[in-house]
Amino acid sequence: MNKLNKELIAAKDKIEKINKKIKKLQKKEKYLSDKIHTYFDSETIDTQDTEEYILNYFWKDAYSKYIDGGFITNDPFVVEHRFAYEIKKLDKIIKKNCINRTRALDIACGNGRYTREFATHFNEVVGIDLSQERIQQNSKENNNQAISYIAENFVTVPKEKLGTFDFIYVGGLFTYLNKEIDIIYSALLKLLKKDGILILREGVLKFGEGHQKSKNYIAYYKNVNFYTEGIFKKKFYKKYRNYGYNVTHLHKYFNVKKEKIITITKNPLKIEKIVKNHIDNNTRQNYFYLYKK
Ligand SMILES: C[S@@+](CC[C@H](N)C(=O)[O-])C[C@H]1O[C@@H](n2cnc3c(N)ncnc32)[C@H](O)[C@@H]1O
Repeated sequence: MNKLNKELIAAKDKIEKINKKIKKLQKKEKYLSDKIHTYFDSETIDTQDTEEYILNYFWKDAYSKYIDGGFITNDPFVVEHRFAYEIKKLDKIIKKNCINRTRALDIACGNGRYTREFATHFNEVVGIDLSQERIQQNSKENNNQAISYIAENFVTVPKEKLGTFDFIYVGGLFTYLNKEIDIIYSALLKLLKKDGILILREGVLKFGEGHQKSKNYIAYYKNVNFYTEGIFKKKFYKKYRNYGYNVTHLHKYFNVKKEKIITITKNPLKIEKIVKNHIDNNTRQNYFYLYKK
């Protein structure tokens, strides 16, 4: 047998060994995943520490791993339509509700899509996110001196480091919090200046509460009234439904006609009517909840 054939046979043998290892590891992976799920499913066992660990782990490199509309919203269709809508809606909300426009804070700013938009309304904007990878990228791409980015976990960052703000936008953080909600909410109120406005943009369920827990991703969807009652009641001011959120559902599960897509490309606010007509009202919803200092 010549040298080449010997090499190829050796390669085939190696592939077989690798495949055996892969099978063994897959079995182990399934066993470990099932173990996590078994405890997550339990009503009596407290898995909070694991959930926090998984969440932090997920966001650490989520921006390079996922493009799915459900987590990261880098999906091109969703970005084009959902965010065009949300930005228009937020522009209106800011103009209507925010008296002073000196400093703004964008918490869980992700790729800075909103941070950049807020800089058209405020003299200075700070974007903060857990993902070091994403914040480094934001800073590299940033050419606006009014904007700065910080890579920090908002739950643990010393709040005095941030200063105070006329406007705070939280683009989906409470959905990832379970126990610390009251502590984080009162910390947010403390960061607001006089007449300041806080907006939480959160996904909710119309009835009851729902927890999405997987070995990769954790989210806690509250009832639609959760953010207006209890600890939130005193400072709650008003809420706006964020129909842009359901673009993900339109895109994934419904056959929305091309003419409608063209309509929303021309006028993103038209999404409201399309969502009302196509999406079951009990599907997960999203709101901009406003609080006043
Ligand atoms: C669903 S994404 C939303 C990103 C952005 N606001 C948007 O709408 O495109 C949630 C973001 O929250 C960030 N995040 C999650 N937990 C956080 C925490 N404890 N502190 C700061 N950022 C956090 C994640 O890194 C991620 O960028």
